Amino acid sequence: MGRKKITIVGAGNVGATAAHWAAEKEICDIVLVDVVEGVPQGKALDLLETGPVEGFDVRVIGTNGYDETTDSDVVIITSGFPRQPGMSREDLLEKNKEIIQSVTIEITKRSPNCVIIVVTNPLDTMAYLVKKVSGFPKNRVMGMAGILDTARLCTFIAMELDVSVKDIQAFILGGHGDDMVPVPRYCTVSGVPITQFMSKEKIDKIVERTRAAGGEIVSLLKRGSAFYSPSASAIQMAEAILKDKKRIVPCAAYLEGEYGLNDIYFGVPVKLGSNGVEEVIEVELTDEEKAEVKKSADKVRASIVELRL
Ligand code: NAI
Repeated sequence: MGRKKITIVGAGNVGATAAHWAAEKEICDIVLVDVVEGVPQGKALDLLETGPVEGFDVRVIGTNGYDETTDSDVVIITSGFPRQPGMSREDLLEKNKEIIQSVTIEITKRSPNCVIIVVTNPLDTMAYLVKKVSGFPKNRVMGMAGILDTARLCTFIAMELDVSVKDIQAFILGGHGDDMVPVPRYCTVSGVPITQFMSKEKIDKIVERTRAAGGEIVSLLKRGSAFYSPSASAIQMAEAILKDKKRIVPCAAYLEGEYGLNDIYFGVPVKLGSNGVEEVIEVELTDEEKAEVKKSADKVRASIVELRL
């Protein structure tokens, strides 16, 4: 078996930082692609030269073309515009649509068997677009959002309770927008539901902060959006696929009836292994939670309509 290869399209904040995590974890060789001349090459070389210091020996290549991406096992798409203060993720749709279409064509020509992880926003809509353009089966196209959103929720719970974040498990469903659906009943501290540690008011505040957490970073950075946590989340997915870990994590997956939804990308718990999304896991929801899921799905659906495919 040859060496595993990951391609990361977009050598900006998310893409380059994803390459950094992947190299440090030594999970595979890395190809970094961007349209800006010199940037992917420069970042890749700089990262490669970190190997002697950090003790990794994966290959890292930067390029403005796609030949080097041939036969990638996993492709992470981060190319496109990020949010600026005052923008919603939806505001990026028109600008990022063309980029995602052209990138998908180049990638699928050379790596017809790869698994694609979409990061570019608006996330669920761009994942839908990649599936359409690639013609790939649903298990080989997914979006990264849920791991990031739950990581944010875990962080806020740990901060509030003054406990290690390692002991927190959180659960979020839905589109990657401000209508995402955190489910506090399924959030625990070492297996004990957080509802036993916090008042409803506290939980509601944390849920609201989580929904707006992307915007909170955008308003602090002023130029661009979060990238450490998004890139780490994308690499966690890539690692689960490359190592066939069968991890149960929330991802944007293509639904055909699950959660009462059809022909849509939506954040749900899935099993991630070498075949990509190997299973969508359905959990029981209350009527109130179901109503929130519907509201979030309606937003994603409206965004998909905007694609005019
Ligand atoms: P960035 O602006 O730092 O990097 C984007 C890169 O894409 C730039 O280097 C640009 O030159 C490159 N690019 C543009 N067109 C390209 C093309 N046709 N081919 C190859 N490369 C191209 O932006 P950042 O912060 O890395 O964010 C990237 C995307 O990820 C944005 O759409 C952002 O909204 C999204 N994002 C999604 C998250 C999620 O949870 N799904 C979280 C964070 C960001």
